Amino acid sequence: MKLTKLVAALPDEKSFSSARPYFNHAVEFKSIFSAAERAKMLEQVGFNVFFFPSEMITGCDLLSDSGTTTMTNEQWAALHLGDEAYGSNKGYFLLKEQIKATFGEKFFNEHTANLQNAFIFHQGRACENALFSVLGKLGPGLIIPSNGHFDTTHANIEANKIAALNLFSHELKDEDSNSHFKGNMDIVRFKELLKTRHKNIPVAFLTLTNNTGGGQPVSMENIKEVSKISKSYDVPLFFDACRFVENAWFIQQYEPGYKSKSIKAIIREMFSYVDGFTISFKKDGLVNMGGGLFLKNDGLFVKKYPKIPDALTNYQIVKEGHPSYGGLSGRSIMTLAAGLKIVTREEYITHRINQVLDFGNIMKKKGIPVLTPIGGHAVYLDVNRFFSDTLMKAEDFGGIGLTALLLAAYGHRACELGYFAFGQYDKLNGKEILPEVNFVRFAIPRLRYEKQDLDSTAEAVKILYEQREKIPKAKVVYGRELPLRHFKARFEMK
Ligand code: F0G
Repeated sequence: MKLTKLVAALPDEKSFSSARPYFNHAVEFKSIFSAAERAKMLEQVGFNVFFFPSEMITGCDLLSDSGTTTMTNEQWAALHLGDEAYGSNKGYFLLKEQIKATFGEKFFNEHTANLQNAFIFHQGRACENALFSVLGKLGPGLIIPSNGHFDTTHANIEANKIAALNLFSHELKDEDSNSHFKGNMDIVRFKELLKTRHKNIPVAFLTLTNNTGGGQPVSMENIKEVSKISKSYDVPLFFDACRFVENAWFIQQYEPGYKSKSIKAIIREMFSYVDGFTISFKKDGLVNMGGGLFLKNDGLFVKKYPKIPDALTNYQIVKEGHPSYGGLSGRSIMTLAAGLKIVTREEYITHRINQVLDFGNIMKKKGIPVLTPIGGHAVYLDVNRFFSDTLMKAEDFGGIGLTALLLAAYGHRACELGYFAFGQYDKLNGKEILPEVNFVRFAIPRLRYEKQDLDSTAEAVKILYEQREKIPKAKVVYGRELPLRHFKARFEMK
């Protein structure tokens, strides 16, 4: 009997195998610390997990999926080929070709062209500051709406005296909704806003995936609809495209008509509807540092604001560097060009999201209240449901106590993104202004952990869920009234 016939008769490996599509190329051993040592350190840093030394993390560090990627051997090899010339280094040209191949020809003009439309920055928030500081100069009373601005985006908009507005989908808070696209923009509110205020809106934003809104994806239908409405009011549309590949995967899986389309083709279609985008490459760029701002060379934005590209170039030169390297070293540009090649591979993205979904489903099976459907880069624990049958009140910031105890007891680091991170202290009446969402986020770094690691996080959370009465209330001892307070505040545990 021929072996080919024999193997054809056996079950397909895809029907049962969960082997990763890659293997470990290099590993790093963790240091060993006890729960008592971690608890002592947490006390020293005022229970702010951002200040907790990562070296002491013996479990999973799920504080962020940003810049925490494990690079591939191709990227490490590319790093060694970095060209550190001051002007027009070798990597710049490779990156240009890769950006065009990934997002579309119109997002990166030749370096000989007069119009510069591609701006390399050191990370996402630097692009945001560049864009919003030039837009802020257009005049007072501006608003930038989004399906959900990330916190730094929000802060950068407001720092430039523009109002940042979140138009979350009403399905985001609807536990009974089984929509796969809870990251969508609320179309009804968007239309109403444009009807009366379109002259005050210099640009509208769609964040892919919607990080503040539970890491939920945005459908192609929503992208198309938002693009059509904004165009009809002469308002340019941008993506905050940090997790564009993860968003494309959800479209491929769940949106009618996209099953047979490749991830690459879906991405090209998504970007055909926008006039520009900002991106932190620390996410779906698969690199540890990098960002970019790209304007479609015949899009509404450059037509409406013909002087802005030059203003951005001036900003870039003064704050970051020459346009051909921006805020990045030549070797970082090389790793980015290589990272963008890998991230759109079907086997990479399928494994990536399935790892996050598997982790979320395990949490769910253990009875832990998590936002469903599970998003693309993180699992979001619903703090209000977690503490619903306890004495924990909104102003006790249960998410802070939970993350502190999880880190001290079991060595896993998660991040409160809820009433403390997004809330505001009203000094006049001494009360908290609560945001719409209250989550603890478990963000999964790319290519870093194995199932066994994440299973251990889920088990640790389950133990704390069973003992939720014992989770301490947090008292803010420093920074309650500060902007971006979650990065800086200090607490005591009651
Ligand atoms: N936009 C989104 C949607 C983000 O998630 C982030 C960063 C940024 C912009 C800013 O990019 O960090 O390169 O300056 N998110 C990280 C996180 C920090 O943990 O979610 P950056």
